[in-house]
Amino acid sequence: KDEPLVLGIETSCDETGVGIVRGHTLLANTIASSMHEHARFGGVVPEVASRAHLEAMTPVVEGALAEAGLTFSDIDAIAVTAGPGLAGALLVGVAAAKSYSLGLGVPLYGVNHLAAHVAVDQLEHGPLPKPCIAMLVSGGHSSLLLVPDVAQDVISLGSTVDDAAGEAFDKVARVLGLPFPGGPYIDRAAREGSATAIGFPRGKMDDGTLDFSFSGLKTAVARWVEAQESVHVPDVAASFQEAVVDVLTRKALQACKKYDVKDLLIGGGVAANSRLRALAQERCDKAGVRLRVPRPGLCTDNGAMVAALGSDLVAAGITPSALDIPADSSMPV
Ligand code: KG4
Ligand code: ZN
Repeated sequence: KDEPLVLGIETSCDETGVGIVRGHTLLANTIASSMHEHARFGGVVPEVASRAHLEAMTPVVEGALAEAGLTFSDIDAIAVTAGPGLAGALLVGVAAAKSYSLGLGVPLYGVNHLAAHVAVDQLEHGPLPKPCIAMLVSGGHSSLLLVPDVAQDVISLGSTVDDAAGEAFDKVARVLGLPFPGGPYIDRAAREGSATAIGFPRGKMDDGTLDFSFSGLKTAVARWVEAQESVHVPDVAASFQEAVVDVLTRKALQACKKYDVKDLLIGGGVAANSRLRALAQERCDKAGVRLRVPRPGLCTDNGAMVAALGSDLVAAGITPSALDIPADSSMPV
């Protein structure tokens, strides 16, 4: 028996993503990004993002259908990111999803963006162990989650109290004169530098919580750079990056230990960071924890992650969303 075909729509930030899955088989993952329009502002401009989603929506949906070799009549359900994210950006995706649901006569599932970041790993590595710990690190979020069941039960254990991890990478890159978004540039520069050159602070390192703080680190780097006559960018990049990934991996493994969970998943754009992957693997091996990290194209925001979670909701027999569901910019997990 064929599992249902689910089309997922993601518009919470600057990516217009549409994915199509059957069960946990990925059939299409099409993306249009407005990042290039935001680069000169040094950050995502909500109004620019909303307009770009509006223009990209129809072509990206049609592109995904073409990529999968399908037509609208094949689709059995629509899933959409209903929050958290930029209000206006979310609204475009939610409105489109409602229209497709109504027009095609198929159920609508409004999903949580963070849970979708977790669910997507199943497209690459198969069913999620129950429970698992998930750490989501991107430009918009830094969260630790306990995931007994991604379709129905996701518990927040901690999150950043100020900047997101990716935001810290982007701001430090700016201080160092690197382009936006700066994460990949810092990653690259750091390979030529020493991670122990400068002792930058590790916020909330052993404070007993599973929360993060990166704004103090960002300020410390900016102050340090200001005070120098000349700056060796690779050393600053490597030392800053080490401070971030040291705290991230340490807290993730503290969460695994505290909840006696042996599977850790890392997702979000910062999961592409080579040092984060290496240190996470090293510390997981030492702690007897299995590590799952989706490939970079599934870590950053995309439509497949929304379709993957939608597919889980259908499989779990969850009641579809009403056609008047709101976009909820601050939706909790
Ligand atoms: O998930 P994502 O594409 O978008 C959201 O923010 O939701 O994540 C983008 C973030 C940016 O802050 C970017 O600088 C960061 O992920 N990033 C990285 C790397 N690649 C992307 N940060 C560190 N190292 C990387 N290799
Ligand atoms: Zn995201």
